[in-house]
Amino acid sequence: MWSSARRHELTLLAAGQPWLPGLLLLGRFARPIRKVPELGWFVADPLVARQIYNDSTHFSIVSEGAAGHWWAQVIGDWVEDLFEGPGHTDLRTKVRDLFTLAHTDALVERVIGPDLRDLRERLAAGETVDIAARAQILVGRSVSDLVGMRPEDIAAAIGGDYTDDQDALFLRLFHHVEELVNLGFGTMASTTLDPVALARARELATQLAVNVPDAYARADPDTTLGRCRELGLDVEHAGGLAILMAVAGTDTLASAMTRMVAIMHDTGQHRALLAAPGRLPDAVRETLRVTSPAYLVGRSVTADVRVADRDLRAGEHVKILTWTINNAAGEFRVDRDYNPETRQLWFGGGRHLCLGAQLVHSELTALLEALTAAGRPWEIVERRYRRKVFIPTYEKLRIRLAR
Ligand code: HEM
Repeated sequence: MWSSARRHELTLLAAGQPWLPGLLLLGRFARPIRKVPELGWFVADPLVARQIYNDSTHFSIVSEGAAGHWWAQVIGDWVEDLFEGPGHTDLRTKVRDLFTLAHTDALVERVIGPDLRDLRERLAAGETVDIAARAQILVGRSVSDLVGMRPEDIAAAIGGDYTDDQDALFLRLFHHVEELVNLGFGTMASTTLDPVALARARELATQLAVNVPDAYARADPDTTLGRCRELGLDVEHAGGLAILMAVAGTDTLASAMTRMVAIMHDTGQHRALLAAPGRLPDAVRETLRVTSPAYLVGRSVTADVRVADRDLRAGEHVKILTWTINNAAGEFRVDRDYNPETRQLWFGGGRHLCLGAQLVHSELTALLEALTAAGRPWEIVERRYRRKVFIPTYEKLRIRLAR
C-alpha cells in the first residue's frame, strides 16, 4: 500500500511522462544491471553506477545515448572537448571557486534573499502562496546571476519588459528553458534529434544567447561568463557553456524545490523538522534523494567491458536509474542519516558530478528556512501536476501556514 506522499509523486511522474513511474518502479528488478532489448543496459545498483561514472576509458558522455551527444548537435561539436577532452578538467578547475558553498550561500542571500523574506512575511500574514511559480522565479534569478546574465540580457533574449515585472520575466525564462529541455523527449531510445526538433532546439538556444556577447564583455569575473572571459575562452564557447548551465540548473532545481514542499507536507515530516530544526541539512539531502529530478543518466559504451559479471559491448547504451537507486532506501525521513553507499548519486558521480550541487544546497536550505521561520507547519490548499514535461514537477502548489 503506497503512502499518500508516494502516490502524489508517482502521479506527478506520470503527468510528466506516462511511462515514467512504471520504468522507475520496475527498474529495481534491474539490480545490479540488466539488458533490455533495443534500449540497452539498465543499472539499479549504487556501486555499479559509481563504477561506470568513474570509468571514462569504457564509458562516454558524448557518444550516442548520452547527454553530451544531444548537446553537440544543438550547440556544436566543440562541446565534446568541453565534456570529455582536456578542456573539461581545465574548465572545472578554473571555475571551481564559483561553485563552493561560501560563494553560493552569498549568491542566494544577495540575489533571492529579498524574495525569500517576502515569502516568509506573506506566509506569516496568513497569505496563500504558489510555491511552484515562486520556485521558477527564484531559480531563474539565481541561475541567471550565476551565469552573468542580467534581467536586461534575459529580456533582450526572450522579449518583454523587465523594469515593472521581473517575476513575469523569470517565469517566461523558465518556460523558454523548459521547452528546450522537453526536446529531450525520445532520448530513451536515441539521443539523435530529428530535424524538426533539432531546428527548434537550435532556435531556442540561439535566442537565449542573443545578449551573450554584451554580457561576456562586462560580466563580473565572479560569474561564469566573466570568468570564461578572464580565462581567454572565446565568446561562442562561453555562451554555449552559459546555456548549458542554465538548462542543467533550471528545471531540475525548480522541481526539487516544489516537490520538497509537497513531500514534507504529505509525509508529515515538516512537523518533524519543526520539532528538530537541527535536521534541516538532512531534510535537504532527503529531498534530493527522494525526488532525484535527474531520474536517469545515460552513458554509451566505447570499448567492450565486463561489469558485474556482464559483458557490455562497444556501441551499447547504459541508463543509470538514479531515482530507483536512491528511492530504494524508503520514504522521506528527516532523521535518516547519510548513506555512504548511495552518497549523492542524485548529482551523478565521477568527473561529471553536478557542478551546481552547492547552489542546489544553498537554495533548498534558504527556502526551507523561510518556510519554517514562523514555527508553524504548512498545508496544501491546491495542487496541480505539470503535464508532458521532461522533468516532472508541479504546475501549481498553493500553500499556507496552519493556523
Ligand atoms: C536539484 C537540482 C539538480 C540535479 C538533481 C542535478 C543533477 C545532475 C546530474 C545527475 C549530473 C550528471 C549528469 C551526467 O553525468 O551525465 C549533473 C551535471 C551537471 N549539472 Fe546538475 N543538477 C541540478 C542542478 C544544477 C544546477 C543548479 C546547475 C548550475 C547552475 C547544474 C549544473 C550542472 C553542470 C554544468 C553539469 C555538468 C558537469 C560536467 O559534465 O562536468 N546542475 N547535474
